Amino acid sequence: MGNGGYDVGHYALSLAYEAGNEEDGRRLRGTAVATARATRDLSAFNLDLKGMDVEAVTVEGVAARWKRSGQELTVTPERGVGEGETFRTTVRYSGGPETITDPDGSEEGWLPTADGVLALGEPTGSMAWFPGNHHPSDKATYDITVTVPEGLQAVSNGELTGQATKNGRTAYSWQTAEPMAGYVATIAIGTYEIRRSTVSGGAGRGDLPVYVAVDPAQADDSRRVLARIPEVVEWAEANFGPYPFSSTGAIVENPEDAAYALETQSRPVFPGAPDISLLVHELAHQWYGDSVTPESWRDMWLNEGFATYAEWLWQEDHGGDSAQEIFDALYEGDYFDDAAANEAVWAFPPAKPPSAARISDSPVYERGAMVLHKIREVIGDDAFFGLLQGWATTHRHGNADTADFIAYVEKYAEGSGGKTAPETAPEADLDAAPDADLAPVWEDWLYGDGKPSVA
Ligand code: TRP
Ligand code: ZN
Repeated sequence: MGNGGYDVGHYALSLAYEAGNEEDGRRLRGTAVATARATRDLSAFNLDLKGMDVEAVTVEGVAARWKRSGQELTVTPERGVGEGETFRTTVRYSGGPETITDPDGSEEGWLPTADGVLALGEPTGSMAWFPGNHHPSDKATYDITVTVPEGLQAVSNGELTGQATKNGRTAYSWQTAEPMAGYVATIAIGTYEIRRSTVSGGAGRGDLPVYVAVDPAQADDSRRVLARIPEVVEWAEANFGPYPFSSTGAIVENPEDAAYALETQSRPVFPGAPDISLLVHELAHQWYGDSVTPESWRDMWLNEGFATYAEWLWQEDHGGDSAQEIFDALYEGDYFDDAAANEAVWAFPPAKPPSAARISDSPVYERGAMVLHKIREVIGDDAFFGLLQGWATTHRHGNADTADFIAYVEKYAEGSGGKTAPETAPEADLDAAPDADLAPVWEDWLYGDGKPSVA
């Protein structure tokens, strides 16, 4: 996934949805405009697009040559693009987008539902519904307009900036003004109950709009938990710092239509009514994953370890088990109901997933959270909560990898207060860790094979 030589700053997607039957319907006619800056001289460049028929490509309004090979759409502009130049690429395309099956067997991309479709993109699915640089490190702002047959609704990331019906079709315009990685872009088309509210001002911001879209079949079960979004956001702000985006909310689909939850930016998707832990998990991802985005999929534990640890902190603060008790249960092997699940926590080190099929396995989630708990143990509670906020602030709306994290924690523990991140992150050199107390956290907990011998 992903392509070099340019950096996309903005996507403008105009998507016309055609509802056919559930089998061969759910088609799309799209125009995608990517505004990018060349990071070197380009005579040609690639976009990721899987399936769909490409009808025309222009660069700066001039017809460009293009060819396709697998998921690569290679564009050769009439005139080359010079390093540093900003250029606009427009792709017109249509077809029935593909449902993509991942190495771990889960489905993403284009997921037809009973009354519409849900587009999800972790880690690769966004290439099924729009051409782009689908690498987590190339974040951009988005304008997404979806037209649907009148009577259906279209929900996406960010804020609804327009809604207009003409000749039996309704256009919904959504805007994401903060940078977003392609894998957390979404559209949900169907019939939803919409509820709007606000998280009242605080934490250095004004009122935060909440936009919730719920499949009517899930409305009763969802009402109570979704009413807690403001409470969860405020709790998270107290722990992680100001909410990083200009709106929040949720999309609740039927469990038959979506098999998992996903932290789609500003508006996480849930397969049926979430419990409070899952709501906390997906909202915590807004800080850790969506705002601070992994540089590559190898850094996945920076997403899932943090979001899992957020669940532990929520339990700890709400009369449940403390993070220490959860850590101990995992270490003793009696956290999950079955022995195999308890054993699976130690299958590989969090920062070294052995393959793409394993990036959502337990070592990335539970053992990733255990790494954070070990850091807390070494540096103490006050410093640890400062670190959680400092990490989110330093890399807000950016990308970071595991080496950045280690460098940040080391510097923070030395007493810099974590306010400054090193200009260029050093490679994670475990032997060079200046603080002897943290070295075992990196060596044994983050990078070590098997279960560390000391809890
Ligand atoms: N990121 C999701 C979560 O933890 C889980 C998930 C959904 C996922 N799809 C994925 C993880 C694909 C890895 C790859 O809420
Ligand atoms: Zn997660």
